[in-house]
Amino acid sequence: MKAYPLFDVRVSTPKLELRGATDDLLDQLAEDVRAGKTHADPLPYDDPISLYEPDPDLRVAKWLQAIWRGRGRVEADAWRLYFVVVVDGQPVGMQDLCGVRFSTFGTFTTFSWLSADHRGRGLGREMRSAILHLGFDGLRAKEASSDAFVDNHSSNAISQALGYEPNGSDWDTRQGEPALLNRWRLTRENWQPHRRNDIQLHNLEACRTFLPLKDGQPDV
Ligand SMILES: CC(C)(COP(=O)(O)OP(=O)(O)OC[C@H]1O[C@@H](n2cnc3c(N)ncnc32)[C@H](O)[C@@H]1OP(=O)(O)O)[C@@H](O)C(=O)NCCC(=O)NCCS
Repeated sequence: MKAYPLFDVRVSTPKLELRGATDDLLDQLAEDVRAGKTHADPLPYDDPISLYEPDPDLRVAKWLQAIWRGRGRVEADAWRLYFVVVVDGQPVGMQDLCGVRFSTFGTFTTFSWLSADHRGRGLGREMRSAILHLGFDGLRAKEASSDAFVDNHSSNAISQALGYEPNGSDWDTRQGEPALLNRWRLTRENWQPHRRNDIQLHNLEACRTFLPLKDGQPDV
């Protein structure tokens, strides 16, 4: 979409590509959301989230509305880039980068889900590596964070494997039930040894122009 260059930001790795979540790509992914392929047991998401809506059509509608709202919120302390994960031309999930007071602290967090048909083959780790590359290498971030319920073994395993350090715990609810979260923190220094030289960033100029990054911070 020519008029919105943030959609052209892309991250490619040997296994997958993160593409700006255009409505066309979201439409292709919607069947997985409708079919409940975003679900996992134990429940992985904290409340509130559209993905817990039981009615499939309403779930898709709420999911799209939440993404549209999130795209439209670009404020100094909060913005979010939504990416669709594409493997061999097929959309299989999402991987987002959320700037959290980025212009002050250089901090961001991430959110992801992968269609149940594509889990357990290393894609989750690959897409997290890709988004960290965008944050640290592309946007010159200082620190990334991640939260996962203590029983979300794959998310916690990915954080641990990629150099994050434990940063305490927190309570949240999932479908109304309290559950404990692990909090993780990855400094730029601890990311460096995990830096990959086979990940490519594309069209980053749009981030400099359209995101409230600190002046001169992104080296793009
Ligand atoms: C989280 C998610 C994106 C991970 O993707 P994935 O492709 O399944 O993960 P990977 O195959 O890359 O596996 C990552 C690690 O978790 C480990 N793992 C996976 N399932 C596990 C389990 N049940 N118990 C213990 N470890 C597990 C893998 O061995 C791997 O560790 P390794 O790299 O040290 O071998 C995916 O599972 C998902 O979409 N889950 C539902 C949504 C969700 O949890 N989102 C995150 C919210 S915080």
